[in-house]
Amino acid sequence: MITVDGLTLRRWTDADVPALVAAYADPELRRWTRLHADTTPAALAWVALHDAGWADRTRFGFAVVDAAGGPVLGTVALKRHDPDGPRAEVGYWTTAAARGRGVAPRAVEVLTGWAFGRFPSLAAVDLLHLLGNTASCRVAAKARYPYVETLPPEAPGLDGGHVHTRLATGTTTPR
Ligand SMILES: CC(C)(COP(=O)(O)OP(=O)(O)OC[C@H]1O[C@@H](n2cnc3c(N)ncnc32)[C@H](O)[C@@H]1OP(=O)(O)O)[C@@H](O)C(=O)NCCC(=O)NCCS
Repeated sequence: MITVDGLTLRRWTDADVPALVAAYADPELRRWTRLHADTTPAALAWVALHDAGWADRTRFGFAVVDAAGGPVLGTVALKRHDPDGPRAEVGYWTTAAARGRGVAPRAVEVLTGWAFGRFPSLAAVDLLHLLGNTASCRVAAKARYPYVETLPPEAPGLDGGHVHTRLATGTTTPR
């Protein structure tokens, strides 16, 4: 558990399943994310996926709550395809009710500091978002993830995306 800047980041548990299902009832959240925990079985699988990620060190996912308590405000996760490699990716969302209060940028900032402190091999964290997701682009800017490049669409008719990257050194170089 991490408490910094008015937020607490803690592990997801099965007790969060109703909050997950409620959060994923929001079409905007489903629109911009790939994993959808919008039913009780899907939410239980979502928590299990996060538990497995902690166990095999490929996904370090946190529920984000106000440090003073209250409902789940969102999630933030560090994804590591190679648990001992130099790169990782950050992912996040906030519930519809929690948006517009800077929760996501603060959570990303806290997670990034934690990650660089915890993993000595980690040199860079990437933040990827689809081109149309201007709110997520704002999160990148506010969490100090400089823009690096624009990726082409994965298939015709789809959006491409932005890559923003934070380096452990605090400087930016191309991927
Ligand atoms: C993108 C997202 C994580 C931003 O989280 P947040 O905690 O609201 O972040 P902020 O409060 O810093 O707001 C970021 C931007 O969202 C927009 N925004 C502000 N209030 C908003 C609201 N009530 N509802 C929706 N968007 C809002 C603004 O463009 C804002 O930028 P600004 O501060 O320059 O005006 C959140 O909108 C979300 O979860 N969206 C759906 C899932 C998603 O896109 N995840 C990221 C995938 S890459």
